[in-house]
Amino acid sequence: MNVKQAIRKRRAYRSLEPVKITPELLKDLSECAQLSASCFNNQPWRFVFVYEPMMLNKMHEALSSGNEWAKKASMIIVVLSKKEYDCIIKDRIYYQFDTGMATANIILRATELNLVAHPIAGYSPKKVREILNISDDIDVIALVIVGKHSKTISSVLSDKQVEAEKNRPKRISLDKFTFFNEYRIK
Ligand SMILES: Cc1cc2nc3c(=O)[nH]c(=O)nc-3n(C[C@H](O)[C@H](O)[C@H](O)COP(=O)(O)O)c2cc1C
Repeated sequence: MNVKQAIRKRRAYRSLEPVKITPELLKDLSECAQLSASCFNNQPWRFVFVYEPMMLNKMHEALSSGNEWAKKASMIIVVLSKKEYDCIIKDRIYYQFDTGMATANIILRATELNLVAHPIAGYSPKKVREILNISDDIDVIALVIVGKHSKTISSVLSDKQVEAEKNRPKRISLDKFTFFNEYRIK
């Protein structure tokens, strides 16, 4: 699979079935994050791979109500970083940009390995902090829900989520977000 194929294949599926989380998979995904670009090579990202059943169960408490489907995850990757870990150039703050790029590497590699890796913002950072003993000065930026895509649509999904399972949510057209040689408000 080439990069464009992985980009096309990646979807935020919500119907999941279990997949075995092996040390090889953890190393593979970690290496893909490791090779990501970052400002001054600061590498501000931190990832907690939660896959032991007892810890995964605890993480369920942190999920928002619309994310019930994520309880079928075989692994939840907790994406962490901190402003001070990366470049701050006047009003430009880069830690979330760089951590997002590293996370995208993980997501695309997981996709290539035929896994679902679905980032979510619908969780309680406070609960995640309590469960994993993360201090307040570290940002809990996202969770990435990992599993295998199930063809059987999850019964906990809303109508809108069921629709998104079948068809990729619409994108804005290229002309709305691309500019050539000059920028104009569109
Ligand atoms: C930062 C971020 C937060 C998201 N939060 C949630 C979420 O809480 N629950 C959810 O079901 N999907 C969540 N998503 C997935 C998006 O809804 C999904 O990517 C979007 O609808 C496009 O669908 P596609 O990724 O399948 O193309 C999130 C995605 C991103 C990047």
